[in-house]
Amino acid sequence: MSAPRVLFVCLGNICRSPLVEGVARQRCAEAGLAVDVASCGTGHWHVGEGADPRMVRAAAVAGFDLSTHRARQLRAADLDEYDLVLAMDSDNLRGIRHLVTAHSRAETALFLPWTGTAPPQDFPDPYYGEAEAFTACVGLAEQAVAGLIERLRRR
Ligand code: 4NP
Repeated sequence: MSAPRVLFVCLGNICRSPLVEGVARQRCAEAGLAVDVASCGTGHWHVGEGADPRMVRAAAVAGFDLSTHRARQLRAADLDEYDLVLAMDSDNLRGIRHLVTAHSRAETALFLPWTGTAPPQDFPDPYYGEAEAFTACVGLAEQAVAGLIERLRRR
């Protein structure tokens, strides 16, 4: 089977989904699991920007490189091109499902529950938080990506 294509989606594509993409890319490579990962945002405000410097810093401390990320917005075609589109929170899941058409082949779901991670269901948005909120995101992303890899292995 060809490598599954997984798209992580948050609001701005500068904090949560770039982090999850970076963690997933590195952990899948370490696990020898062929998976194509990418991320985007439902919003347009940060298109073309790098990841939030606070997120880049917190990820780097844990050994994940987000320095080459550039934000992009979700498009309807993503739902034809990806196998799995995972939303960081329920607002973004609604935004994704608004774009579903007869062509769409992607499975859409909430990221944390899909990975079997304990509640909360929504990945907390660190954007208006302190540095600790960004550090906490990294730990949560690592935990959830472990669950993602386990589930992808069983497919
Ligand atoms: P993200 O975080 O969705 O995890 O990238 C946010 C980024 C930007 C904004 C909100 C959340 N914003 O309001 O601009």
